[in-house]
Amino acid sequence: MNRIKVKIPEHEYEVVLGDDIIYDLKNEIQHLDLSSRVFAIIDENLFKLHRSKISEALSKFKIEPKYVIIEAKEENKSLEMLQYIFEKLLYYQCGRDAVILAIGGGIIGDLAGYAAASYMRGLPYVQVPTTLLAAVDSSVGGKTGVNFMQRKNIIGAFHQPELVLADTKLLKTLNKEEILCGLGEIIKYGYLSNEDFYQKIKNNVDNILALESKVLSEIISESVKIKAGVVRQDEKESGLRKILNLGHTFSHAIESEQNYSIKHGTAVIVGISAALYLSENLNLISTEKLNSLLELINKVKPHINLSKMEGEKLYEIMFNDKKNREGKIKFVLVKDIGEVLIDVEADKESVINAIEKAERLFL
Ligand SMILES: NC(=O)c1ccc[n+]([C@@H]2O[C@H](COP(=O)([O-])OP(=O)(O)OC[C@H]3O[C@@H](n4cnc5c(N)ncnc54)[C@H](O)[C@@H]3O)[C@@H](O)[C@H]2O)c1
Repeated sequence: MNRIKVKIPEHEYEVVLGDDIIYDLKNEIQHLDLSSRVFAIIDENLFKLHRSKISEALSKFKIEPKYVIIEAKEENKSLEMLQYIFEKLLYYQCGRDAVILAIGGGIIGDLAGYAAASYMRGLPYVQVPTTLLAAVDSSVGGKTGVNFMQRKNIIGAFHQPELVLADTKLLKTLNKEEILCGLGEIIKYGYLSNEDFYQKIKNNVDNILALESKVLSEIISESVKIKAGVVRQDEKESGLRKILNLGHTFSHAIESEQNYSIKHGTAVIVGISAALYLSENLNLISTEKLNSLLELINKVKPHINLSKMEGEKLYEIMFNDKKNREGKIKFVLVKDIGEVLIDVEADKESVINAIEKAERLFL
């Protein structure tokens, strides 16, 4: 078992990682002095695949946990689903002594986290991430929220969990597309961190995709440390935390332009490539540096299927994105491994050219 501390001003919690540790859920919650009155929000697919394991873990609580099962799809990260959860919380007479458990991937985590942030002005909650993306990214850092009027995560709150408990054995049933989603974020950490971690990811792309236990737990734990380090310094994304958006300005637009037929992780990988090309277009890096930075991307390339993209349309989508202030698109760009620039503005031509180069890399 591996324990990582996330220290945020006025709040500290642990990320606990390990095989089969879901059976420790009750003890971990008890150690935190949290109530054993549990309301769990559980991913439907996960529940089908791991029903007996999850039921056994929940059966250890003194008071029988109440739970709802929700299909993990973006349409369910909604105000309607939130209302359904609030109705159930009231039905089961959950008061401020309750603790909410989010058992699933990023969709369940964001939804349950926002329910916890808003019900009775805030209940404690525990994340049990069951996708690779949730384990390395969304379960840590306290961003919660739902989609509204076709805008992703437009309504939400920063609400930190009391604990993140990642049972790495649960990840074994993920399909390749879902593993790639996590890998996209892991690759991002490779560029944000240091040469050692970058090389480690580069040399282990196939092991990560095969969910090889030892490699996986080292990679998840290092990724969580990187994210925790960033969040500690900038919980509310007023500055440094923006580095975690590397590749995401492009990827959100790519997902939208491709009508969400492309998975988020794939879009992130293509988006990071576009950010690297844009860094070169703006003379932040030499062609030689670009080629060395593309080595990691080249390792993942065989696993990516990309359809043709419309550079002009992508630019328009980015232009209208919620993060853009004063009509300017701000990019996170890379100067070197561990050396990232935020809020970089770029001319339209350079951006579209970077998109076209990224497209050529994967087509
Ligand atoms: N809060 C944050 O900081 C943050 C960061 C990144 C992404 N997100 C959000 O996360 C969401 C994406 O999360 P995700 O990629 O985890 O996807 P997800 O929650 O949609 O899960 C992906 C699929 O995997 C299935 N699944 C979950 N666990 C499984 C398991 N162990 N075995 C087999 N299948 C399993 C789900 O049922 C679903 O079909 C998006 O809504 C995104 O906005 C949030």
